[in-house]
Amino acid sequence: MTISTRGDVKDITLAPRGKDRIEWAAKDMPVLRLIRERFAKDLPLKGVRMSGCLHITTETANLAITLKAGGADLVLCASNPLSTQDDVAAALVSEYGVPTFAIKGEDKETYYRHINAVLDHKPNMTMDDGCDLVSTIHTTRTELIPAIIGGMEETTTGVIRLRSMERDGVLKFPVLAVNESDTKHMFDNRYGTGQSAIDAILRATNILLAGRTIVVSGYGWCGRGLASRAHGMGANIIITEVDPTRALEALMDGYRVMPGIEAAALGDIFVTVTGNVNVIDRQHLERMKDGAIIANAGHFNDEINIPELEKLATTRRRVRDFVEEYTYADGRHIHLLAEGRLVNLSAAEGHPASVMDMSFANQALGSEYMLAQAQELQPRVYTLPAELDKEIARLKLRAIGVRIDTLTPEQDKYLNSWESGT
Ligand SMILES: NC(=O)c1ccc[n+]([C@@H]2O[C@H](COP(=O)([O-])OP(=O)(O)OC[C@H]3O[C@@H](n4cnc5c(N)ncnc54)[C@H](O)[C@@H]3O)[C@@H](O)[C@H]2O)c1
Repeated sequence: MTISTRGDVKDITLAPRGKDRIEWAAKDMPVLRLIRERFAKDLPLKGVRMSGCLHITTETANLAITLKAGGADLVLCASNPLSTQDDVAAALVSEYGVPTFAIKGEDKETYYRHINAVLDHKPNMTMDDGCDLVSTIHTTRTELIPAIIGGMEETTTGVIRLRSMERDGVLKFPVLAVNESDTKHMFDNRYGTGQSAIDAILRATNILLAGRTIVVSGYGWCGRGLASRAHGMGANIIITEVDPTRALEALMDGYRVMPGIEAAALGDIFVTVTGNVNVIDRQHLERMKDGAIIANAGHFNDEINIPELEKLATTRRRVRDFVEEYTYADGRHIHLLAEGRLVNLSAAEGHPASVMDMSFANQALGSEYMLAQAQELQPRVYTLPAELDKEIARLKLRAIGVRIDTLTPEQDKYLNSWESGT
């Protein structure tokens, strides 16, 4: 099948609604707005061919507008088959002139056809959320490598994949791990995933969280956010972990900590946010209560062993949008949300614009930095310089009208000297 170079979207007539929603998100993205205004004057990305594989949301559209303002020649595809907002994809194509290849619910074949369509753009720079562009380039599109200056990576799972490529000596160009900036993971992963994953569970099921037991697997940035938000709404939290320090932190934050197999029998709702595989496996699924709800907010849909769930069930049916009910032979019902894919982006709208403002400020400034440093960088995984990270925090505080103290010369001297003490 051939697809137009302008993109492949579900329904171009959805564009006006997408534009309204993109403008709504823009109101809560003041840092990106400041960057856009400067980019429009300085054109730091002039003529750079960029291919992005990101969740196609209102916030990503604002990043795209910013990169274009900076002079980039940009095309986009989805980084997950279920996360695309079809009205936004339509608006990107028809209102903002960004060729976009993304349809909510696309099958795996279409997903990879879209990835290859954005690679046909012959990028000088890639922008990934999960490393699918970089891994496709390194496996089946190696002819593109000589023209690539570098890439940007948005999420934890993508950074893990890239570090493993670096370790194996196969990474062929530098990549900036945007996820590692404080102004990314401390806010996007924690407050963004924390709130939007709960938003999605509520939209999909409309259940009351108060009094329910929620099992959160993984107490990293996302898991901490999810646990604290759910706790705030009255849920009892159980954490499962494999890292002793994180498990201890969860315990001292006031939650119960236990092995997954024990939690399996106690939970009403289960959410995985580990970036790992089969965290909810057959033995957990076998022990769950009638009515249990399972969701995943980690990057890939392999945190829950869905093939085993299918084997355990005698029947399955869709009972609500994004809710699949599996019935076991003994009559128990288990509910899987959003096919085990990123629940917050599938059954809700993903992170609020206010946190994506900082994540995408990192992407925009990171791409400018990558270009400026092109000669210096090796084929490795880099993080953004700490000054850029702090600058984003400073701009965000200023935009929301919060002032902080500055060091006095005396304090600065004190902190930089080893001679002062008792
Ligand atoms: N839904 C979203 O919008 C969104 C946003 C950001 C990140 N993510 C994804 O969420 C996942 C987690 O990201 P993070 O930044 O919190 O990572 P993180 O590394 O900070 O935390 C992951 C935690 O999971 C734990 N873990 C690993 N295997 C486990 C297992 N078998 N059982 C229990 N715990 C286990 C690790 O010890 C770690 O503490 C990644 O896949 C990331 O890409 C999703």
